[in-house]
Amino acid sequence: MLDIHCHILPGVDDGSSSMDVSLEMAEILYKAGIRRIAASPHYGEGSAGDVPIELATQKRQELNASLVEAGIDIKILPNAEHHLRPSLFDRIDAGAVVPIGGEGKWLLVELPWQSIPNPEEIIFRIQMKGYRVILAHPERYKYIEPPMVERFVERGILMQLELGSFADLYGRRARKRAIRYADKGQCHVMATDLHFPKDAEKWIAKASKYVRKRYGDDGFMKVFSENPTLLTKNADHHDVMPLKR
Ligand SMILES: [Fe+2]
Repeated sequence: MLDIHCHILPGVDDGSSSMDVSLEMAEILYKAGIRRIAASPHYGEGSAGDVPIELATQKRQELNASLVEAGIDIKILPNAEHHLRPSLFDRIDAGAVVPIGGEGKWLLVELPWQSIPNPEEIIFRIQMKGYRVILAHPERYKYIEPPMVERFVERGILMQLELGSFADLYGRRARKRAIRYADKGQCHVMATDLHFPKDAEKWIAKASKYVRKRYGDDGFMKVFSENPTLLTKNADHHDVMPLKR
């Protein structure tokens, strides 16, 4: 399994606070079946951090070395959680973005929590720049409603739902939305978005059980293994099949 949204890099953003904590998180993810993590530090002018690419690269190498030393069979790949602000386009123009897995054109993009004008137009502009977009946790933004998600998907934008939403980690609305999107064929990838180890083993087990029961073991592997892997290989959005009930 490959987790494409995870704040496991030590001491860079609001995720893991130290190498020890990162290793604790890795143990939990290993037990859940995850063998590769495209670690996604916050990147851009958001409130949760803006981790320079060079620093992320250095921390990734340090974590990979510590994982080997600790005997945890997980590999950390390049990635970033790109925060959608006008300045993101300067970074895109400068080539200063990090595709999922380090190669290809798929960018993990998050929107601000506070509503912004025309999120659709801004995301489509990223596509016009030649990148492919997977939107982080559409079920959690208060101003993103189901018709907009439908239009996103029609335009080839993929949806990454939070595994934790299925265990009620982000409240009732997010849970209901996540189930609705997944039932309607608007979930392409699930990820942990793990920030800290506390209670993680418990909620990951609970949510995984729910997803496996509702969408089958095949569905679970599709959104946690096959589809994330396709993104690292720069697959066309048509080839990334959504979850089906
Ligand atoms: Fe995140």
